[in-house]
Amino acid sequence: MYKAVQVNKDTWWTGVNDYETDMFESLWPLPQGVAYNAYAVIGSTATAAIDTVKGPWLDEYTDKLTEALNGRALNYLVVNHMEPDHAGLISQLLTRWPSLKFIGNAKTAPMLKGYHGITDNIITVKDGDTLDLGGHVLRFTTVPMLHWPESMVTFDTTTGVLFSNDSFGGFGAHEGGIFDDEKNPSRWEDEMLRYYACIVGKYSNIVQAALKKLGGLPIKNIFPSHGTLFRHDPQKVISLYDKWSKYEGENGAVVVYGSMYGHTRKMAEAVCTGLSAAKVRDIRLYDASRTDPSYILRDIWKFKAIALLSCTYNTQLYPAMEAVCSKLLNRMPKNKFLGLAGSYSWSKGALTALQDFAEKVKLPKIGPEVEVYASATPEDLQKCFDLGVNLGEAMA
Ligand code: FEO
Repeated sequence: MYKAVQVNKDTWWTGVNDYETDMFESLWPLPQGVAYNAYAVIGSTATAAIDTVKGPWLDEYTDKLTEALNGRALNYLVVNHMEPDHAGLISQLLTRWPSLKFIGNAKTAPMLKGYHGITDNIITVKDGDTLDLGGHVLRFTTVPMLHWPESMVTFDTTTGVLFSNDSFGGFGAHEGGIFDDEKNPSRWEDEMLRYYACIVGKYSNIVQAALKKLGGLPIKNIFPSHGTLFRHDPQKVISLYDKWSKYEGENGAVVVYGSMYGHTRKMAEAVCTGLSAAKVRDIRLYDASRTDPSYILRDIWKFKAIALLSCTYNTQLYPAMEAVCSKLLNRMPKNKFLGLAGSYSWSKGALTALQDFAEKVKLPKIGPEVEVYASATPEDLQKCFDLGVNLGEAMA
């Protein structure tokens, strides 16, 4: 029998920990697992679940929801988001409670039909609409494209809990405690930023708009659908989201290279030496072939400078570097300084491809741009060193 956790007045965590899925969205590694947080609010006249969890966790989720309901029926399911990691059990809830009513917005209804064949008992809400459960009035705010079109958040006006869905979420399953005051921030903050960079960061301008839209609410707790629940210091994560969505990086550099035989890595190391000479103390050197792009994206979000170095492969960018550049183009980070270097043997190609990338990503370039034939000469390495120095000085 799985146990729910009471997280506020009449409010229960009915979520689950997933230590088995290797890749979130079949894309992003989960070395610390992931939590699907779901909730139940038990009013005096009606009951509501806030989202469900991913499909395979039916027994654990329903055990917890049943405990929270304490013998009562489930009257409403608030569907903040239709992505299947939160909407996976909607059909099963309807089987168990056939009179269940669904709360969503105009963009939710077609997805309820598409994923679950549900067309009845859907209550469509707009910004500011409320649902009175008796002692708990839930207020709904749409946050379209944060990160799906139907995304919305739910605010309990009685407890001050913001059920924020994916916003403020993070990778990493709960390891004992579920609240911010029960964990060391160093355990969740990096995984929250990696989640932000991979899942939410593309929509940073929308995050800014949403922060303004929610700014007037007296938020006391932020309970997201992944990761840590914030009851002690919700303002801290609001500030983090404000910083990340403004692309406000710290003084530091991410140096990423693609290298088959080590020659381009040697160039990257010279860039790092230059950065260090310029007194940059946070330098992250990543082999694009051996580091998952999610960690590279995380640190690119964290710091102000990026250096990309690639060997040429079949006249183009090295594939692992191409993957990094493609992910950056999808997210279009801002407020970063960019340095470039390429190498080649029987055909040029990498540096030109990086220059094309730089045009598209619209980040300010710092020189010199370095192109090396075969193995870097001392002069070539000096140019790589100079690139590191210049990147460091650009941030100063
Ligand atoms: Fe966690 Fe967008 O689903």
